[in-house]
Amino acid sequence: MYTRKSVLNLADWDPILVWYEKAVAAMKARPFTDPKGWRYQGAIHDYTPADDPFPPAPMPPPAEQAKYWKKCQHGSWFFLPWHRAYLLYFEKIVRKTIVGLNGPPTWALPYWDYSVNNNARRLPPAFQSPTLPGGGPNALYVAQRAPNANNNLPVGSSASSNTSGALSKMMFTNTTVAQFGGGTTGFSHNGSFPGQLEQVPHGSMHTAVGGPTGWMSAFDTAALDPIFWLHHANIDRLWTIWLNSAPTRVNPTQAAWLSALGFDFHDENGQPVTIYVNQVLVTTAPLLDYDYEAVPAAAPLVTAVLPGGSTVQPNAVAEMIGATEEPITLGTQVVHTSMALSVPKGPAAHPSVAAAAGGPIGQRSVHLLLENVKAASRPIESYEVYVNVPQGEDPGSHPELMAGLMPMFGVVEASQQDDLHGGSGLNYSLDITNIVTDLSARGAWDPASISVSFVPQRAEGDRETNVVTKTAQVGRVSLYVE
Ligand code: C2O
Repeated sequence: MYTRKSVLNLADWDPILVWYEKAVAAMKARPFTDPKGWRYQGAIHDYTPADDPFPPAPMPPPAEQAKYWKKCQHGSWFFLPWHRAYLLYFEKIVRKTIVGLNGPPTWALPYWDYSVNNNARRLPPAFQSPTLPGGGPNALYVAQRAPNANNNLPVGSSASSNTSGALSKMMFTNTTVAQFGGGTTGFSHNGSFPGQLEQVPHGSMHTAVGGPTGWMSAFDTAALDPIFWLHHANIDRLWTIWLNSAPTRVNPTQAAWLSALGFDFHDENGQPVTIYVNQVLVTTAPLLDYDYEAVPAAAPLVTAVLPGGSTVQPNAVAEMIGATEEPITLGTQVVHTSMALSVPKGPAAHPSVAAAAGGPIGQRSVHLLLENVKAASRPIESYEVYVNVPQGEDPGSHPELMAGLMPMFGVVEASQQDDLHGGSGLNYSLDITNIVTDLSARGAWDPASISVSFVPQRAEGDRETNVVTKTAQVGRVSLYVE
């Protein structure tokens, strides 16, 4: 059994990182046509010739590209299993490369747990320096990152690395309101219904590391940054943590998820493999054969308990009680919008529900949805979203009113029409139950209207001055109760 360890517990140049660096350098030296090479591995995630930072080189034939490249699953219930399989074969390739360099056969990918405190959002030191301690170029270093990333400063904000929203979700699969693992989709290279984990911390930490123009901020360059793989090991670990946190937290059981789609990769010998979701569900099974250091066997139950002691029911039906009418354009300034709310009429208004919940508007939970979020070119990395900020006041001085983050990872891809996608953009859902409950407890909740503010997320020093910020559009903001 291989153990994936926390990079935070390793010395700056622990042998695990020394060997990772050597393997990355060796993989970078392989031709673009080699499935075990660095560029090929990056292109499996996504590839656009115009964004390719490397010099032109002979490429695999088009049929091979079509079969293996541009396959990352996003905005979808395939997000977690596809990335697990992607990491698995990548890790096998790295390990075999290390063994070929006379390194340890027990090597396993470390994970980056950026959520434990503010300092944990500093990029691990081995990734920050252009040169190795003994001299020579460091293959773990990438210049194209947010300015903070290579200056030993935390990237993003505590909201970027927050896992509690995702871990408190009761179900794996989304309907309207995001759950843990993503929407029920077919093959979804740039699909539009991410689960909560995919939104935050996944998307938010991508853009926190990548900044406005760095590799980690776009699908087609993200996997070229060696930190990508440690980020995804942590996302993969959070899947296990979520499953372990309560007996009711289970994976989907539909054949459409388990066995309908085969994903194609190459193994450590460069041989083609096809893998299905039902083959990657248990990390300790022989094919995967890994576990994580520090995964609690039975973590404390993280469940939103609403006033009256009820928890969100898995069979809840979401009802929309308000929506904006015009699309909203976001840029570098704070943008406010507001909408009228109606009284729930559907299942959320049922007397037994209202009595059980005792919530401010007779509901069990309240969700702000941001729908059809689109951008033609990369906008600001993330927006912070606030509700009911008093007029004329700075949203930043009201952290208690922050509904969450809207990270822009993948927004350009999701806005593009192709043969598989309508280009309808991304959807986000932010659970604002606690905010509504608090407002209502101090008599400050107006059941007839809500205002929403979008604030560009900024960290001190964390922006290149010469970047022209492109706009993003939010098609509709709506409020759902369930
Ligand atoms: Cu397929 Cu974190 O991205």
